[in-house]
Amino acid sequence: MKFVQAKNYSDMSRKAANIISAQVILKNDSVIGLATGSTPIGVYTQLIDWHKKGDLSFAKAISVNLDEYCGLPVSHPESYRSFMDNNFFDHIDIERNNTYLPDGMAIDFSKECKDYDQLIDDLGGIDLQLLGVGNNGHIGFNEPSEEFYIDTHSVELTQSTIASNARFFEDDISKVPKTALTLGIRYIMQAKKIVLIANGEVKMNVIERAFSGKITPMLPISILQLHSNVTIVYSKV
Ligand code: GLP
Repeated sequence: MKFVQAKNYSDMSRKAANIISAQVILKNDSVIGLATGSTPIGVYTQLIDWHKKGDLSFAKAISVNLDEYCGLPVSHPESYRSFMDNNFFDHIDIERNNTYLPDGMAIDFSKECKDYDQLIDDLGGIDLQLLGVGNNGHIGFNEPSEEFYIDTHSVELTQSTIASNARFFEDDISKVPKTALTLGIRYIMQAKKIVLIANGEVKMNVIERAFSGKITPMLPISILQLHSNVTIVYSKV
């Protein structure tokens, strides 16, 4: 496990983007696991910038996102598909057909989850997984719980996650979806490399507890202690 301290949010974003950029330069058909939330936006902005300057191409890359809300049409501005299109995919040269997210509008969630796991299996797993972390220690939408969920699954979001994500829904808790589909622990932990980004006091506290305390599903991110190639790029501010 490597801890890389950054000076501030933009330095953290640039450092993490450097790792992703190196991955794609060294293996242009990499399978990259991507995350949503406000934290990775700076990483995506930096990668877009390098792409626009002609230094980085995603033409052969494949992306697999961690999660998606249930019941939000893809066209909804806060669906994670919209988030990824607006903040990243629409500005780089990745093939749209090579960008995957779970389908939160699927009729049969259980089948959708199985298919998503099969897809990642067929792709040969994830080369590099970018992760943020929720204020309650969730990764993807693996919420604190009595047990770790191995496979892609549907999940009831906790009140704290709903409250925290209300900022994206006009601060109206009633507009935040209550369920989501998320990659389970298996394919996150099987990623060859993980880059975790976190900034600010609340997240520093989560990171501290996750990597110096015991591994527990009540703090899902703590499972990363068992991964052999995790880089935590963090900024206290
Ligand atoms: C959502 C996502 C997570 C993300 C978390 C943190 O809940 N499902 O993948 O890590 O938000 O968001 P933020 O970076 O905005 O704090």
